[in-house]
Amino acid sequence: MRAASIERYGPPEHVVVSDTPTPELRRGEVLVRVEAAAVTAADARLRAGRFPKGFALLARLGVGIRGPRARVLGSTLSGRVERVAPDVTRFLPGDEVAGMTGLRMGAHAEYVAVSASALVRKPVEVKNVDAAGVLFGGTTALWFLRDRAGVKAGMRVLVNGASGAVGTSAVQLAKHLGATVTAVTSSRNRDLVVRLGADRVVDYAETPVATLDDRFDVVFDAVGNVSRAEGLRLLVPTGSLILAVADLLDTVRARGRVLAGPAPQRGEDFAFLLDLVASGHLDPVTEVVGGLESVREAHRRIDTGRKVGNLVILPHKGDDAARTLNS
Ligand SMILES: NC(=O)c1ccc[n+]([C@@H]2O[C@H](COP(=O)([O-])OP(=O)(O)OC[C@H]3O[C@@H](n4cnc5c(N)ncnc54)[C@H](OP(=O)(O)O)[C@@H]3O)[C@@H](O)[C@H]2O)c1
Repeated sequence: MRAASIERYGPPEHVVVSDTPTPELRRGEVLVRVEAAAVTAADARLRAGRFPKGFALLARLGVGIRGPRARVLGSTLSGRVERVAPDVTRFLPGDEVAGMTGLRMGAHAEYVAVSASALVRKPVEVKNVDAAGVLFGGTTALWFLRDRAGVKAGMRVLVNGASGAVGTSAVQLAKHLGATVTAVTSSRNRDLVVRLGADRVVDYAETPVATLDDRFDVVFDAVGNVSRAEGLRLLVPTGSLILAVADLLDTVRARGRVLAGPAPQRGEDFAFLLDLVASGHLDPVTEVVGGLESVREAHRRIDTGRKVGNLVILPHKGDDAARTLNS
């Protein structure tokens, strides 16, 4: 099969598409023909070996010293079951599925071996592109907003970085939970975040977040440029500060009102998000970048810090054929 892989941490040019053996199935695993896979901020971090402050050594010990141990990146996918391990009873060849592969990665390829517990059935109404696109930011936003901060109707939520993968889901999920949402973004993404439901938009070039006089029940920083002190100052006394990009110090001392750390990848959350997409309550904001050869281009766009929503590749299609799906 063909896959986009990387040997050493470095720039997007280090990603190479080549032939590689189709993964062998271990117990409990399913081989999925990848119809669509997201290229995410996590992929770009792993490719570059760029980790939040204080995490560099720990992260490299965990995921690889000179380059990622998982050579084929990509953790979020949608596709069709090709084969199942003998002990797997939940899925059959031909089933349409979506899910996340965790640190094993491997989705930037024509086929990937995934634990059956990390997959759910994809509703027929949801396109592969949208299923692959929504899960990375969606699971993060859902975990922090609903499960950690307990967002409820009437709460005031500020989302910093509202136009990215996490931010676009956070704006919509906060609205879905009944909150009033203030979205922080640049002027070029104003219309997008309004369309997603933001009640108010703050252009960070005109009004830096830290200078806002308002107070919120939840401040969700999906950029990493709001300090703990600045975030706490923006909260009502009972409010919660979500630091999705916390450094080591803020991660260690995150407790009580300050929430940080990795969001879990849970099947029930995948199903919840896909149902919201199917019913038209969650717009995945996806863009097809191309086929496998476009993984590099997607990394370049993420590295600019200006990516909007979710970038998706279609491993079984050529670049031009894949891009026509945007129209
Ligand atoms: N804790 C976890 O479990 C977890 C899970 C997923 C992701 N993350 C982390 O969360 C971060 C965000 O991920 P992502 O996938 O959403 O990233 P992303 O899609 O690459 O975010 C790009 C967006 O950030 C916006 N942005 C850049 N600078 C900004 C600023 N100063 N103020 C407001 N918005 C700004 C850009 O909008 P403009 O062009 O308008 O500036 C762009 O649309 C990443 O660092 C990722 O590693 C953490």
